[in-house]
Amino acid sequence: MSDSVSGADRAAEGFRAVFGAGPEGVWAAPGRVNLIGEHTDYNDGFVMPLALPHTCLAAARARTDGVLRLHSGDASGGVVELRVDGLAPVAEAGAGGDRGGWAAYPAGVVWALREAGLLSGAAAGGADLHYTSTVPTGAGLSSSAALEVVTATALNELYGLGLEPLRIAQLCQRAENDFVGVPCGIMDQTASACCADGHALFLDTRELALRQVPFDLAAEGLRLLVVDTRVKHELGDGAYANRRAACEAGARALGVPALRDVAYERLEDALATLAGDETLVRRVRHVVTENRRVEEVIERLDAGATRSIGPILTAGHASCRDDFEISCAELDLVVETADAAGALGARMTGGGFGGSAIVLVEEADAESVGKAVTEAFAAAGYRAPRIFPAVPSAGARRLA
Ligand code: GLA
Repeated sequence: MSDSVSGADRAAEGFRAVFGAGPEGVWAAPGRVNLIGEHTDYNDGFVMPLALPHTCLAAARARTDGVLRLHSGDASGGVVELRVDGLAPVAEAGAGGDRGGWAAYPAGVVWALREAGLLSGAAAGGADLHYTSTVPTGAGLSSSAALEVVTATALNELYGLGLEPLRIAQLCQRAENDFVGVPCGIMDQTASACCADGHALFLDTRELALRQVPFDLAAEGLRLLVVDTRVKHELGDGAYANRRAACEAGARALGVPALRDVAYERLEDALATLAGDETLVRRVRHVVTENRRVEEVIERLDAGATRSIGPILTAGHASCRDDFEISCAELDLVVETADAAGALGARMTGGGFGGSAIVLVEEADAESVGKAVTEAFAAAGYRAPRIFPAVPSAGARRLA
């Protein structure tokens, strides 16, 4: 267990091996899956993620000389050493196509803290950080957000900044948007910073209003499976930015600040206005119906009718596939196979173009549905998927 005491001990040992002395503390921040509400966050809409038990750990110690030393136990390449006052966004620094590698995420967080005027006095002194993570990378499970949020959470305490989790999420989104150069919304960072054990997080991304919604699957005899297709998911390749630009164009064409402002009841009128631009029609229809699906899921969960969210999840997948066009053959195969094998519902989760799907099943069916998916992948000649349960877990926290 990555977030157990032994995980913290291992992170502390790793720190000592690299930096010569022990850390001041060890912090954890989780990856996430999104239950419903895909590509709605940059449209001022609704999302409903939950944190995974998989976490990124950071063992950290403050410095006094303005130097930032970053080390990952999971990456080769040794210690990355930077000066806090010299940090500049990756594009300006001319790091080229790779966006600066893993260290750009924590470096970006320190840059965002600095840009927000939070690093003065002792807080400008830099830090040593050693990371180790169990969040699968490139699987659409927010390994980058976990890395950002654990960094901000550790520095928040080390420097006594007094930042609330939601503010931490905002600073981490700024790091990813403006330092790393990925135009993501705020869902992943908020999930990693703010989720609660046994709950899904309902987030209104315009108001930044949060509600913890009880989601105790085990108590109801249910299970949510994550199926990592192991098809590499990459947010920086232009397709994500392209979807975001289409949504902004749709909002402009409809004369609203964001697609959040298109009421579900007025959808047909809106689509009639956009007639002639089929792509825009499809993108807008996805966002408006997806926001409605989030509201429906919340209504059902509030009513204690958890099983009945299954078909809404599957309808969400169809919308991602047909209207937003962000699925892929492997994700579609997970959903089709799971549905045919008796799942309550299934959908892709996260940015899309690969990555992971989620499958809601009766506990008793979890094994047979997982087996059906694995067999379908083998029959199609795909790499074996990685399947594990999404146990709704806690957000960022101090471990030691
Ligand atoms: C990625 C982004 C999020 C969100 C999802 C799609 O995970 O980081 O902000 O847009 O894609 O819902």
